[in-house]
Amino acid sequence: MPIRIGVFGYGTIGKRIADAILKFSDEFELVGVLKPTPDYEADIAVRKGLKVYTYPERVNDFEKAGIPVAGTVDELLERIDLAIDATPAKVGKEMKVKYYQPRGRPAVFQGGEKADVADVSFSALANYESARGVRYVRVVSCNTTGICRLLSALKLHGLKIRRARIFLVRRGADPKEHKRGPINDIVPDPVTVPSHHGPDVKTVIPDIDIVTMAVAVPVTIMHMHLVNIELEETVTRQDVIRILEETPRIMLVPEGRRMDSLAQLIEWARDVGRYRGDIMENCIFEGSLTVYDGREIYLMMGIHQESIVIPENIDAVRAMFNLADKWTSIERTDKGLGLITSGKRYGL
Ligand SMILES: NC(=O)c1ccc[n+]([C@@H]2O[C@H](COP(=O)([O-])OP(=O)(O)OC[C@H]3O[C@@H](n4cnc5c(N)ncnc54)[C@H](OP(=O)(O)O)[C@@H]3O)[C@@H](O)[C@H]2O)c1
Repeated sequence: MPIRIGVFGYGTIGKRIADAILKFSDEFELVGVLKPTPDYEADIAVRKGLKVYTYPERVNDFEKAGIPVAGTVDELLERIDLAIDATPAKVGKEMKVKYYQPRGRPAVFQGGEKADVADVSFSALANYESARGVRYVRVVSCNTTGICRLLSALKLHGLKIRRARIFLVRRGADPKEHKRGPINDIVPDPVTVPSHHGPDVKTVIPDIDIVTMAVAVPVTIMHMHLVNIELEETVTRQDVIRILEETPRIMLVPEGRRMDSLAQLIEWARDVGRYRGDIMENCIFEGSLTVYDGREIYLMMGIHQESIVIPENIDAVRAMFNLADKWTSIERTDKGLGLITSGKRYGL
């Protein structure tokens, strides 16, 4: 019997999780999505054949808008084995207390929640096994997911990380968010050091020495990370390239193809037919990859904030329900979502 899943919140992340679940219909059934407002996103969900649920006090609004409702939030909760929460930051905690916990439903939360919403903060390459059989799991944020994958790539290949110092240039808003900024500024985000990303990485990889700083810029397409990692032992640039090539969910952006910016990466994704222009892999610019004195790695890495956490949401469910071991799950997820698999570079 497939695991019956409800997606609570159908915005940037929720709609992508819903689409991903549909790709694994032998394992999961998407029972429906919860949406408070009868807007264009709700309309599209219905047109795609999804069942849209809402709060009882919103049913009339949906009827007036001509968007059919499959039921109320309580009915959705009755019909599912698991809630995947994709409501705005901090609302997930309220949903847990008001709906998931009283109805005895396990839940996956997103990175906008504090770590204490769940028993485990999750990033598949780093700590898949720790989510096995667990009731509440938090998939960490887009930036934290990107950093955890990169650090895990090195650790999984036996390298010891002395320290990581990462500078994040954050997109100011998602493409649909017309009311957010900045529109002509570079804003310390926050002005204090560290930004929350370093401590957040430690919720997944506790033994890492990491400091992060962040600014927000007038961009909507992706984040850019400027990374400096110091190792205990010496490596060559070629060693690091091989490690990155061998790691799932990491794409090396080759030199010499004029893919020299985040905008070109997004254009590549659109040109190759990635749905919505999504890039769920870390995008590491090969030309930026430099090793000094054998121990210090420098690189630049693009992170597509709207989609990078989707594979981890699928893996989190498999881990919670003990459906597969780590590498089987990662491989199945990546294949199902059409990601570049380990050992392969862009276009090869
Ligand atoms: N966007 C990113 O870059 C990104 C990346 C990684 C992780 N995350 C995390 O993912 C989570 C979701 O973010 P998002 O960007 O997808 O947000 P979003 O685009 O604003 O979508 C939020 C969704 O939740 C619904 N919602 C709002 N209040 C609700 C409530 N009380 N009950 C049920 N549904 C409610 C909204 O519906 P209405 O429109 O009808 O109000 C909307 O469908 C957050 O924790 C965020 O930090 C976001």
